[in-house]
Amino acid sequence: MMLLSPMTIKQTTFKNRVVMSPMCMYSVEKQDGVATEFHYNHYVTRAVGGVGYIMIESTAVLPNGRISYEDLGLWDDSQIEPLKRIVNEVHKYGAKIGIQLSHAGRKSRTKDIVSSSPIQFSSRYAVPKMLSIEEIKDIVKAFGEAARRANEAGFDSIELHGAHGYLINQFISDLTNTREDIYKDGTLFLKEVIDEVSKNFPKEKILQIRVSGYEYHQLGLTPYDWASILNNFKHQLDLVNVSSGGTVEATIDDYPGYQLPYARIIKEETHMLVLGGGQLDDEVLAEEALKHGDIDMVYFGRKLLKDPYFIYKLDESLLPKQYVRATSLKKRLNEGRKTL
Ligand SMILES: Cc1cc2nc3c(=O)[nH]c(=O)nc-3n(C[C@H](O)[C@H](O)[C@H](O)COP(=O)(O)O)c2cc1C
Repeated sequence: MMLLSPMTIKQTTFKNRVVMSPMCMYSVEKQDGVATEFHYNHYVTRAVGGVGYIMIESTAVLPNGRISYEDLGLWDDSQIEPLKRIVNEVHKYGAKIGIQLSHAGRKSRTKDIVSSSPIQFSSRYAVPKMLSIEEIKDIVKAFGEAARRANEAGFDSIELHGAHGYLINQFISDLTNTREDIYKDGTLFLKEVIDEVSKNFPKEKILQIRVSGYEYHQLGLTPYDWASILNNFKHQLDLVNVSSGGTVEATIDDYPGYQLPYARIIKEETHMLVLGGGQLDDEVLAEEALKHGDIDMVYFGRKLLKDPYFIYKLDESLLPKQYVRATSLKKRLNEGRKTL
């Protein structure tokens, strides 16, 4: 199965193409952004389950960049050690692990929220303060500092959260950026973030971005827009993770594989490596997307929440030695075994 075949990016070889999608667990206990025992158990369990590539949930580069007070953060050195513990343990099971660095901008439910422009997401959110040029520079620096900490924690990769209407996306989309200064072109903010993160994260490691390939609005970004933006950065980015939506409230007609067309267009137009998914719970669909060349790796979100060991249902020969007795009775009998 291609899904279970290895893949190499730069110096990192993934034992398979199954990726745990970043998923906020809102499980920080003291509002300090520090990973807890829950995070440790949650991520290590997926590594035990044989996942090739684990992406830690959206992790804020500044306190007011959190979606909620329960989000992970990487704005302080005290947040490194508990993440390092997770990274070390995940590595023992042969999985690779990255962290999604994020600033929620106007989609934060904390205090003093900011954005590219003073446009609120919806009546349920506060009106954000429009960032000054100096404040933008501070956020760029915060991304760089978080990248340095991510490296110290031992992460194999960083994923910049440029999707779902968070701050990077807020700068890039015309739906959320009405500035008249140099940041009117929102790709300038993205460029500065990529440059700063690249300065603080080793070149041998992986830098990737998550984008919303489609914003479900007639004036919003399309996969073609993202492809032309990404073509300017592809020498600095190793992988693009294609999701969709989240910039404005919209009704989405979702179904298994609904985001694959956006991923395919971005892949065709940029020739970058693409990570895609979205309701690909049926591995036959995931396999088809890989074989068809739409995407290079597949992310699984909710499926991995419910079924962290699904890989062993696809191929029992991958069961770790401790779990070998879970091999199905039929297979054991075929192998000539007389007893359980
Ligand atoms: C509980 C939950 C939390 C999520 N948090 C994040 C996040 O932190 N960052 C992100 O980019 N996407 C997040 N997502 C979106 C998922 O990464 C994924 O793209 C989405 O669930 C679709 O994939 P699936 O159908 O395999 O679940 C979240 C989704 C869920 C269900």
